[in-house]
Amino acid sequence: MDDLKRQAAARALEAVRDGMRLGLGTGSTAKHFVELLGERVRAGLDVIGVPTSEVTRADAERCGIRLTTLDAIDRLDLTVDGADEIDPALNVIKGGGGALLREKIVATASDRMIVIADESKWVDVLGRFPLPVEVVPFGLAATQRAMAKAFAESGVSGQMVVRKGKDGHVFVTDGGHWIVDAHLGRIADAARLAGLLSVIPGVVEHGLFIGVASTAVLAGAQGIRVVER
Ligand code: A5P
Repeated sequence: MDDLKRQAAARALEAVRDGMRLGLGTGSTAKHFVELLGERVRAGLDVIGVPTSEVTRADAERCGIRLTTLDAIDRLDLTVDGADEIDPALNVIKGGGGALLREKIVATASDRMIVIADESKWVDVLGRFPLPVEVVPFGLAATQRAMAKAFAESGVSGQMVVRKGKDGHVFVTDGGHWIVDAHLGRIADAARLAGLLSVIPGVVEHGLFIGVASTAVLAGAQGIRVVER
């Protein structure tokens, strides 16, 4: 599986050109991309990156990739990031690693987003993977009630679980927020759910990336498949 992730990352690297400003994703697949990009940088490629998490920042620095912020540049040319699920319209669930807020800010500030994954992430309908929703801790119960209403209005339901870290404590994001993982099973109208979640005051961001990815690179046992939107 790890080899497939690296193959997808290597294919996405072919889209990188000298002088590009790149969004650098988070997660095990995106980490392969950062490592491979680092090899090219050490061989002379001139790019600058914006990391989507503190973990990716550390990885990129270790690989010798020059970094900047979205405050210092106006647009990014390309973001390459992993995904938890990808559907045929290239709508995506992200946030399994807890970095969805910065990932969405960076991806939507980019002219293009390439999602890289092994084939196991490809689904007919999003929702088998629990939907991560980043929330402020204040008023959590009220926020969860509003989320349940949004689920009902978009025809889904399911358990909500506040994410915990490996240490057993509540997982805290880079932005200082919590994550509620919503076990919905099948999200028939992801765009509608995304819209309803976005207007809940206690929801900082959700892991539905609707119309953001332009390309998916999927690596499987039969080879690599590139899907364009
Ligand atoms: C991080 O918050 C996530 O959005 C990841 O990009 C996603 O969970 C995919 O991670 P893997 O590449 O580790 O499966």
